[in-house]
Amino acid sequence: MLTVRDLHVDYAGVVALRGVDLRVGAGELVALVGANGAGKSTLLAAVSGLHRPVRGTVTFLDEDVSGLPAYRIARRGAVLVPEGRRLFGHQTVVQNLLLGGYHRTAAEREAELARVYELFPVLAERSGQRAGTLSGGEQQMVALGRALMSRPKLLMLDEPSLGISPKFTKMIFEVLAEIRRAGTTMLLVEQNLRAALELADRAYVLQTGEVVMSGPADELAASDEVRRSYLGL
Ligand SMILES: Nc1ncnc2c1ncn2[C@@H]1O[C@H](COP(=O)(O)OP(=O)(O)OP(=O)(O)O)[C@@H](O)[C@H]1O
Ligand SMILES: [Mg+2]
Repeated sequence: MLTVRDLHVDYAGVVALRGVDLRVGAGELVALVGANGAGKSTLLAAVSGLHRPVRGTVTFLDEDVSGLPAYRIARRGAVLVPEGRRLFGHQTVVQNLLLGGYHRTAAEREAELARVYELFPVLAERSGQRAGTLSGGEQQMVALGRALMSRPKLLMLDEPSLGISPKFTKMIFEVLAEIRRAGTTMLLVEQNLRAALELADRAYVLQTGEVVMSGPADELAASDEVRRSYLGL
């Protein structure tokens, strides 16, 4: 579904990604892990069209999307839930959710909204509340729900558990498992390495802009090197 080849991205001359190769197959949940500053967010931004690579290609659904504007990549079905959520704090929960389905018919929006409320019943209860007054965990649910409103083919998540209580993190990971069962392909960036490797089919480890390890998530979770370097075991 997604193939990233030899991707190089820099910020005004500072190299953030150097020669990254990564693949996500249809129906897979792939985790992208690595220390702070490794380039995880940069990779998601480049795939989403928010950063233009200096070299390399991004192929999504058999089409080269490198250099396309972000909204066109999103329309094709590759949707990012950014770090920090980026909600409209003064708008209500339902208004934020509906924004995610703006290009769909009213009937489709209603159907998706019902599904989002099924996945996150608390959002149905709080549909009229301003998003900015929700807890961090609830805001993350709105951000995820908003992305789901567009029925993404590839859902990319940047640190969905960041700054969120363990209770909400557990709920969000349960919903990710549910979304995966329903057939959505996912690329997950996550600090909580253990939780990410438990959920993922495969994983890539990024270090200072390069992929240093990749493989089935259970093998990486069992690898001494990963345990020592990243799990602190
Ligand atoms: N807007 C920017 N301008 C300049 N440098 C940037 C910018 N954004 C990121 N960088 C640099 O690019 C590198 C990769 O950053 P990136 O945010 O992709 O890492 P990350 O793996 O997502 O880290 P974190 O775990 O902290 O979110 C870092 O060295 C960072 O300092
Ligand atoms: Mg990041």
